[in-house]
Amino acid sequence: MKVLGISGSLRNARYGAGSEQLAQELQNLSSETALTEFLQSQTRMCVEDVISAGLNDDIPFDQVYENLQSRSGDKGLSNSEAALAAGLWGAIQEGADIEHVGLAPYFPMNGKKRHLKQLKKIIMESDAFLVSGPVYFGDRGSLIQAFIEFISNDSDLKAHCFGKVYAGIAVGAKRNGGQETQLIYQLIDMCNLNMLAVGNSHKTSAQYGGTVMAGDVGTAWSDQYGLETSIGTGKRLAQVALSREACQSLSLKDRAKIGIWLVQDSSDHRGLAKINEWIDEHGRNDVDYQVLDLTHQEIYRCIACDLCPTHHAPADEYACIIKTGKDFFVRHHADLVSVDAILLAAYSPIDRQDVTSVYQQFMERSRYLRRGNYLLGDRLVAPLVITELNANQNLHIRMLTSLIRHHTIVHHPLIAVENEGEIINESFLLDQLDNFAREAIEITKSRLSRDPQHSDTWYNPIGYLISNERNQEDRRQGVLTKVFDEHQVVLTKEKSRRIAAK
Ligand SMILES: Cc1cc2nc3c(=O)[nH]c(=O)nc-3n(C[C@H](O)[C@H](O)[C@H](O)COP(=O)(O)O)c2cc1C
Repeated sequence: MKVLGISGSLRNARYGAGSEQLAQELQNLSSETALTEFLQSQTRMCVEDVISAGLNDDIPFDQVYENLQSRSGDKGLSNSEAALAAGLWGAIQEGADIEHVGLAPYFPMNGKKRHLKQLKKIIMESDAFLVSGPVYFGDRGSLIQAFIEFISNDSDLKAHCFGKVYAGIAVGAKRNGGQETQLIYQLIDMCNLNMLAVGNSHKTSAQYGGTVMAGDVGTAWSDQYGLETSIGTGKRLAQVALSREACQSLSLKDRAKIGIWLVQDSSDHRGLAKINEWIDEHGRNDVDYQVLDLTHQEIYRCIACDLCPTHHAPADEYACIIKTGKDFFVRHHADLVSVDAILLAAYSPIDRQDVTSVYQQFMERSRYLRRGNYLLGDRLVAPLVITELNANQNLHIRMLTSLIRHHTIVHHPLIAVENEGEIINESFLLDQLDNFAREAIEITKSRLSRDPQHSDTWYNPIGYLISNERNQEDRRQGVLTKVFDEHQVVLTKEKSRRIAAK
């Protein structure tokens, strides 16, 4: 399984044989300390390069840039390249093969695109994609845009990328520079190309990917936490892609359970009726669709406890402070944690007077599931939104950005567009629904086939001192070990009950 690392900056220093050399250099780094030293020396080489290209010689920067073009491409790393190198190093630690490609030689500053057959070959020979680039105006730069268009406009590439795993890294000059917006837009575009998207790992608390802070040439090495998020992104990408590959020889003995959780609907249950119709008429036999209508359930708002979950507990034990028997989560905890995949569903008409929505309460109350060591983790997820034309609620984007924080795997959003009472893209929607179900089976196999000993996905309470102290105490008392051990026993049993060799 090969992870392709894609650098999207005109400042990139590695290309051609230099890309191959980078892959080899990363293979040879035996520790994170060695990686940091390597990134420091390589990013500094870029500073030396710009100086020797004339930066201090009172010549305009376009002249410096032109001088830089004569570089051999075999040393140095730009900021987003350094972050990518960290991600690729993470992927190697998980056992993936890697390759690096810089986009600048293919999409030059001006003039025609070049050597596209070669780029196509590189993409076609890769199994997972880690894309890193600078933040430009809170979004990606034009090289990554050209890369996305290149895939979108080529049917072979589109077919090859279908179902492949993607993750992103963004490097911006400042905190809040737009790293997250860039990653979110890119995630949506990659999902729309039918790739499966993942974020960074649980160690840096499962967000949208790698986010590094670096402005001037040669500075990315110093953002240690940013590089941690990048390493974690590469690791997560490799884990998901490797386990997906490893489960090809396995089959699922029972049916994958897809939870369809309806969080917004009209008073005449239009959304529920449509969803039931689609399942009845087009559902797959090898999948168990479990529709939960939450819109008439009482969902208490999150009171933002200082300690969430209330205690470290086995997955089947409810651990939120809200205990009233009327509350949806109290009553349905077992249903929520027992699914293999999640479609978060909503009906979104223009006129919202007649709509009941529990979406936001639902999402905020799911905090205890996330902080209870990602009880929905490694599930395939997607929004299923039936939206009236011009309703423009953007629910699918909000759902994606919240769902990925449950350490999940994101599928193409399922969006049905309604106009004058008719769903105008129904066949496209049904294809996506079918694809989601097929992919849910694969992802379930890969989740269950992983060695339970190595599936300790724990929640790291970054930014929460009180939770950290509690965790340390629980670790000392052996509470965390006990919960993990019990979890592994449950997983081992589930694996032998549900997975078989083909
Ligand atoms: C056209 C342009 C737009 C930029 N926009 C942003 C921005 O919106 N937010 C930010 O934090 N940094 C921004 N930057 C800074 C770059 O993201 C930053 O310098 C980054 O480290 C470059 O990575 P590279 O060395 O791999 O090219 C911008 C830089 C350029 C040239």
